[in-house]
Amino acid sequence: MASWSLGLLSLLLFLFLFLFLLHQPTTTSAIRIDAIIRKPSSPELPNFREAPAFQNGYSCGSRESDKIHIAMTLDANYLRGTMAAILSMLQHCTCPENLNFHILSAHYAPELYSSINSTFPYLNFKIYRFDSNRVRGKISKSIRQALDQPLNYARIYLADFLPIDVERVIYLDSDIVVVDDIANLWNVSMEDKVVAAPEYCHANFTQYFTDSFWSDPDMPKTFTGRKPCYFNTGVMVVDVEKWRKGGYTEKVEEWMAVQKQKRIYHLGSLPPFLLVFAGNIKAVNHRWNQHGLGGDNFEGKCRKMHPGPISLLHWSGKGKPWLRLDSRKPCPIDHLWAPYDLYHSDKHHFEE
Ligand SMILES: *[C@@H]1O[C@H](CO)[C@@H](O)[C@H](O)[C@H]1NC(C)=O
Ligand SMILES: *[C@@H]1O[C@H](CO)[C@@H](O)[C@H](O)[C@H]1NC(C)=O
Ligand SMILES: *[C@@H]1O[C@H](CO)[C@@H](O)[C@H](O)[C@H]1NC(C)=O
Repeated sequence: MASWSLGLLSLLLFLFLFLFLLHQPTTTSAIRIDAIIRKPSSPELPNFREAPAFQNGYSCGSRESDKIHIAMTLDANYLRGTMAAILSMLQHCTCPENLNFHILSAHYAPELYSSINSTFPYLNFKIYRFDSNRVRGKISKSIRQALDQPLNYARIYLADFLPIDVERVIYLDSDIVVVDDIANLWNVSMEDKVVAAPEYCHANFTQYFTDSFWSDPDMPKTFTGRKPCYFNTGVMVVDVEKWRKGGYTEKVEEWMAVQKQKRIYHLGSLPPFLLVFAGNIKAVNHRWNQHGLGGDNFEGKCRKMHPGPISLLHWSGKGKPWLRLDSRKPCPIDHLWAPYDLYHSDKHHFEE
């Protein structure tokens, strides 16, 4: 416990130093940052066990078109969640070698790269740097501070990051585990839609926006001709080509600019997505996002599962399974996450 908090302290110190150096105008500072980060004797990140190699089944193709592209974000706080999510996908996939991970990170951090590389030595992945300044000025305060992190908005910019030959991508939050073959979500037929996700038409859609939105003479008209329903942006299949052609990044940003002027919603990156896409997505089976397992946004109370088959478990809400397990007050549902946890609390394991 003590060594963990010591590690956290040195991570904070490191981040501080990093930011400080980042603001030095000379070019030599970049080299100095490198030198500090690469120092082998600074174990800032937690250790993870190495995952086994997962091999393709005989039926798997190896063409470009057989690849499955997955985008996730990564920061030090959610690293443990990201590792578990990746492991869960590899484990349940018939063609694990066809999985390609596109990982967005807010910091230039070689140690994040080595952490993933040493945990999954056979993984196809690329890390992209997401420049927080791109979105920082556009973010309005929400009801939960964690939702206001710039990286939480990175999903809006996916189309800009991904290589041009990536036509479709599955975006996933880091607080999930997949317990089914992700190929079954990947091959959803999008029809003419840009986004596919489970849709919840029984949820009270009104509550996601404020009275000043609904009482505005023009704003609610954005939903004219659609029957808007809630969907969760933590699990989405995105047609990247259609997204680019339709300029959807700008459309989402426009609503964020409105939010800056006049408070039209309470949450973070979700409502502007709803404004642009609700009622116009391809609905996929609810099994692909059993969300809310982290409880509500304020207390993170334990939640029960909704009935029905499950392919993906999502700890959205305040409670995260790795924190609740560490605190020895886990919710019953957190025991379903634990088998995918690669965290290795013995710091010296890899240093021998
Ligand atoms: C990634 O890990 C492999 C195997 O452990 C190692 O051979 C390779 O050099 C690593 N790559 C980088 C860029 O660190
Ligand atoms: C998706 O793939 C699964 C098997 O991996 C198959 O059962 C299903 O029919 C496919 N769906 C579509 C729409 O191609
Ligand atoms: C939906 O939420 C709004 C705002 O919170 C509330 O006024 C309305 O009564 C709710 N509708 C239903 C059917 O619960």
